[in-house]
Amino acid sequence: MELFDLTGQVAVITGSSKGIGKAIAERMAEHGAKVVISSRKAGPCAEVADAINAKHGEGRAIAVPANIASKEELQRLVDETNAAFGRIDILVCNAATNPYAGPMAGINDEQFGKILQNNVVSNHWLIQMVAPQMLERKAGSVIIVSSIGGLRGNALIGAYNISKAADMQLARNLAVEWGPSNVRVNTIAPGLVQTDFARYLWENPDLLKQVTDPAPLKRIGQPDEIAGAAVYLAAPASAYMTGQTLVVDGGITIAW
Ligand SMILES: NC(=O)c1ccc[n+]([C@@H]2O[C@H](COP(=O)([O-])OP(=O)(O)OC[C@H]3O[C@@H](n4cnc5c(N)ncnc54)[C@H](OP(=O)(O)O)[C@@H]3O)[C@@H](O)[C@H]2O)c1
Repeated sequence: MELFDLTGQVAVITGSSKGIGKAIAERMAEHGAKVVISSRKAGPCAEVADAINAKHGEGRAIAVPANIASKEELQRLVDETNAAFGRIDILVCNAATNPYAGPMAGINDEQFGKILQNNVVSNHWLIQMVAPQMLERKAGSVIIVSSIGGLRGNALIGAYNISKAADMQLARNLAVEWGPSNVRVNTIAPGLVQTDFARYLWENPDLLKQVTDPAPLKRIGQPDEIAGAAVYLAAPASAYMTGQTLVVDGGITIAW
């Protein structure tokens, strides 16, 4: 149990009202963490937090809505977490945006700017807000949910993939800067996962086949199949791992 024990740790997970973020919050709570559920909509966040408290006991989860596009709202997320739980030990930058599908030649400045803002700069903002207390305690784990898109070129989601590659480099850079203070920064790169975010991909039979045929496991993933990687990266089991990208994709990136 010790390797994966998160008892007493406080975890903030953005985009945790549904999908991968929700699964990460639920599994981290199961492993003992106190969790902060956050997304733009208060209602769904409260529902997830209430369910976790009902299962694991009052005081194990709070809901703090915040739009990752807003620096003020991210600061409020950090401040309300510190006020409620006194500290942040684990930060999962999971929420992301993809308002455009198509070739790079067709993307407008507003779309590209929004992708880079929400998927890279907002992660940097939130990490900057949380890091000082981690550095002072010489302990902390930051996890960015990237994508295997950040490892590949793709004609449909190029701008999104550029942002996800930047997340991997953000993790490598911060890992170098903060390793001496024992603050670890890693990313998870999921393959296609059955969530609303990727619905336009897995609901299209042709696109689904393009992903599942070459994948050794012959299927797409479920949100809960990403959560274990996040628990690992937050827990003592990964104490010697930093700056890395953990690929969880049914094997598609290693297949010919
Ligand atoms: N699904 C896949 O195939 C896949 C593959 C690789 C990587 N990923 C990555 O996995 C992460 C989670 O995606 P998912 O598939 O789990 O998506 P999802 O099921 O659609 O959930 C997205 C979550 O993020 C929140 N959110 C969206 N925009 C936000 C914003 N501006 N500010 C704050 N919260 C926001 C949503 O709630 P609200 O609408 O209430 O804000 C929701 O809680 C993303 O980083 C995505 O790039 C997904």
